[in-house]
Amino acid sequence: MILAQTERLLLRSFNRHDIEPFFAYRNDPVVARYQGWDIPFPLERATEFMIAMETATPGVPGEWYQVAFEEKATGTVIGDCAFETRPSGIQAQIGYTLARPYQQQGYGSEGVRGLLEYLFVTLNMHRVSAYCDTRNEPSWRLLHKLGFRLEGHYVDNYRDQGAWASEYQYAMLQREWEARQAKI
Ligand SMILES: CC(C)(COP(=O)(O)OP(=O)(O)OC[C@H]1O[C@@H](n2cnc3c(N)ncnc32)[C@H](O)[C@@H]1OP(=O)(O)O)[C@@H](O)C(=O)NCCC(=O)NCCS
Repeated sequence: MILAQTERLLLRSFNRHDIEPFFAYRNDPVVARYQGWDIPFPLERATEFMIAMETATPGVPGEWYQVAFEEKATGTVIGDCAFETRPSGIQAQIGYTLARPYQQQGYGSEGVRGLLEYLFVTLNMHRVSAYCDTRNEPSWRLLHKLGFRLEGHYVDNYRDQGAWASEYQYAMLQREWEARQAKI
């Protein structure tokens, strides 16, 4: 299923043919540094996950849905984004990942922009939020660039590699997204 597209990317459902690229970037320590999974990320888990995603439905309250970023020019899966639909069904939390060779070329912000269009237009979400470690500069820069508002700075709110770490919370409302589109 194609959820959205941008100039260079198709945002589509994952399937079992995507195991190899997904498994590779999930196991890159640079990519995984501030993410919610531990490495090594086993091949069995990657396989189960891809197969489960073939039949998953996006937008189910209480569930995460993972979306592949496919580079249109080559058909390569270069990363992904994900969203958790909150129990209300009209709010979501997002996450995003790019394989290392594709970072710092604008793909991350382009892909997340496509995800926002899907969430705000197709799913008619009221609000989208995102959390990132305060040391993850590419991540908070991406959110800032897309017009997310900084809503919170949680100090020493989680443990990371045996030490306390801090997070930023960002959010965007549907009306804020619409106002930005009107200006573009
Ligand atoms: C976060 C991530 C998706 C950004 O993707 P990207 O394609 O590199 O980002 P973009 O090229 O669209 O750039 C977005 C902003 O981040 C900045 N940026 C990107 N990489 C950077 C880096 N290594 N250091 C500092 N800033 C960086 C860009 O300059 C741009 O900001 P600007 O417009 O103010 O210049 C990517 O770094 C990644 O996959 N990281 C590992 C996974 C991760 O941590 N995900 C987020 C978890 S919360």
